Amino acid sequence: MMDGATTTAAPVLILLGPPGAGKGTQARMLEDKFGLVQLSTGDLLRAAVAAGTEAGLAAKAVMEAGELVSDEIVINILRDRLADADCAKGVILDGFPRTTVQAEALDALLAESGQKINAAISLEVDDAAMVTRISGRYTCGGCGEGYHDEFKQPAKDGVCDKCGGTDMKRRADDNAETVGSRLVAYHAQTAPLIAYYGGKGSLQKVDAMKAIDTIAGDLNEIVQEAVA
Ligand code: AP5
Repeated sequence: MMDGATTTAAPVLILLGPPGAGKGTQARMLEDKFGLVQLSTGDLLRAAVAAGTEAGLAAKAVMEAGELVSDEIVINILRDRLADADCAKGVILDGFPRTTVQAEALDALLAESGQKINAAISLEVDDAAMVTRISGRYTCGGCGEGYHDEFKQPAKDGVCDKCGGTDMKRRADDNAETVGSRLVAYHAQTAPLIAYYGGKGSLQKVDAMKAIDTIAGDLNEIVQEAVA
């Protein structure tokens, strides 16, 4: 078992990586396999925007510009969601933390409940490939399952493999221009977290340029050991 791991409290896993690295794709597979809860701050923020909450109204334009929403808003949203009963099973954080302030807030939150981070896993990719991944992405509006025009198509065109839904959606920020801003934000504000978790002994790196199922196999091994 790696340094910083915990065996008594519910597992906490972090997926780090730039837009398009496959955080959501892999988090959903890990959720199914290990019985954990995927917490995507992007999904939580999009839900807040759709609901027209105060946080959602503040976040909308920032997200459309491909910049990071304020630490205060994101930490509050994450704290509220972590308090929900289902999170007692353990969580996979997808897209959080994204700044050092968020990482320190997470450490403090987990300390309050006697939890620690089992593993922070960095999905290592080439930026150049991310525009293709993101511009081909679409998602089932019913269950959130993710697909890709080229790399991950449902068995039956337009029909979700998981829930049978036919309401496929594309995100407003999934265009080449906004992806550029999101990559800049990642390298300036989020990439330093690789060193942050490296210094705590909880970092693992995975080559995320491989095929989706191959990466899933690599992640399964890491997570199996991290939550043992
Ligand atoms: P968020 O929703 O978190 O978006 P993101 O980080 O930009 O990540 P993506 O969802 O675009 O990519 P992913 O890594 O999940 O890739 P996916 O698995 O879908 O955040 C959106 C915005 O919200 C941010 O820009 C910011 O404004 C705000 N925000 C969110 N969290 C915040 C925070 N903590 N602080 C501040 N602001 C925050 O894969 C992409 C596509 O590629 C899919 O179609 C998939 O099928 C395909 N694919 C996946 N893996 C592979 C593979 N190995 N080979 C080929 N294709 C693949």
